Amino acid sequence: MAGAELHVRAPEPGRLIPGTHRGRTIAAQARASTLVVGPSQSGKTTGLVVPALLEWQGPALSTSVKSDVVKDTHAARAARGEVRVFDPTDSTGLPSTPWSPLTASGSWEGARRTAARLLGVGEQGARSADETFWRPAGARFLAPLLLAAAHGDLSMREVLAWISTLAEEEPSELLYSCRAPGAKPALEALESVWEADPRFRSSLVQTVATALDAFQEPQIAAADIAGSRIGARWLLQGENTLYLISPADDQRRLRGLFAALLADIVAGAFASSTQTGRPIDPPLLLALDEVANIAPLPSLDEIASTGPGQGVQLLTVLQNVSQAADRWGRERAETILANHRARVFCTGIGDHATLEHLRATLGDEEVPRTSRTQQGILRAGSRTSSRDFRPLAPADRVRQMPAEQALLVYGRLASAWLNLRPWYRHPALKALADGAPAPTQRRARGRLTCPDFAAWRRRRGRRQPPHPDNQNNQKERSQ
Ligand SMILES: Nc1ncnc2c1ncn2[C@@H]1O[C@H](COP(=O)(O)OP(=O)(O)OP(=O)(O)O)[C@@H](O)[C@H]1O
Ligand SMILES: [Mg+2]
Repeated sequence: MAGAELHVRAPEPGRLIPGTHRGRTIAAQARASTLVVGPSQSGKTTGLVVPALLEWQGPALSTSVKSDVVKDTHAARAARGEVRVFDPTDSTGLPSTPWSPLTASGSWEGARRTAARLLGVGEQGARSADETFWRPAGARFLAPLLLAAAHGDLSMREVLAWISTLAEEEPSELLYSCRAPGAKPALEALESVWEADPRFRSSLVQTVATALDAFQEPQIAAADIAGSRIGARWLLQGENTLYLISPADDQRRLRGLFAALLADIVAGAFASSTQTGRPIDPPLLLALDEVANIAPLPSLDEIASTGPGQGVQLLTVLQNVSQAADRWGRERAETILANHRARVFCTGIGDHATLEHLRATLGDEEVPRTSRTQQGILRAGSRTSSRDFRPLAPADRVRQMPAEQALLVYGRLASAWLNLRPWYRHPALKALADGAPAPTQRRARGRLTCPDFAAWRRRRGRRQPPHPDNQNNQKERSQ
């Protein structure tokens, strides 16, 4: 592999390590998003997501369908900063920090963005009537209700009640008295729903109620703004960590909620970078394991390409290209892939679209071929040289890679076969998982205290009388 700039001796701030190549550690450049593609049990979580969270020097957000990520990285992340877990269905047994979508709905823009995420607008690849008409219409109905409830310090329970009863009085009063810019168009949007055809209204109510199914869970519905303790401001305050955990069985129901929360954090992080005019420092890691199932943000392609410039670094994990195409549509899925500078393909890939993507991305290599022809007994044969083409990453080689190996495709560099670093086999990562201080923390402590400590020792040696015990010892020795 060309590109000596990818070789590092030790983890460096802002650089994700996909693995090792010929015994040397490879790290993606700072401000390069990384994508991991691989089927189940191919080492995506243990070889890439967990190591990234263990080594990341900065705030981090992790999405996961299982408790594996939080279990293996909690101690390390807690040694760096504060840890909060959003696990609204209590799948891990860890205390869950509440979050309400109303937290992200204090402005008209925020309310519209949140409504769109809750309804899954722009999520599906297949352009069904549901996708193109009813979901956006549902979001236009929900957004003003979110703004009204946020303004009234209420919870989603009240929003659900307004939707099911098509309540007019309370939300319109709240919007009327709301000073937020956009309250007037919000009220007008609501009025247009109330004046609409009853059949249209009833379909709209059904669409929104279905999308908000997660809020049937009393714990999720009860969260209000005052109780919400998750946001970009908190996350970026230090090397804090937020775990979003959505169990596989509940993904369909919870997807909108998780997407709204993730979109809120990303918007807050971008706003923070815009305010200061600089990328967030240290950068925020978004370790998005199973993102297509948990929180398929329609703007993932943009976040992957523009995020690193603002200090938002992506580690996106997908099962395969077909899964991405199902969720975002083929074109957008291709853009998502293209916008990650580092792409890691794990072993066992059988998905046709993924293998096709690899073939198209890597192309063929030219290989010289020499063939001999035998003319007959006692007669000289001839030798002809020609050139053949074969795929750089043949499907069978990608599929049959040994466990714990992966193919790295990085920008315009030649691709390379890597060894992953499963955290449980790697002594330094294992030590971090057990809660040992990170090398940088140890170095920082050493740098700060060593000169002071040496000076203290010198002063102490000059000024202080010998310790009584030492005097006794000296006496004993002189006797
Ligand atoms: N602590 C551990 N010790 C030894 N082996 C482990 C440990 N944790 C996971 N493994 C093994 O590592 C392999 C890869 O697991 P991993 O969870 O990384 O796969 P994955 O690609 O993330 O799969 P999925 O898509 O199902 O989440 C599995 O065979 C698993 O049994
Ligand atoms: Mg996994």
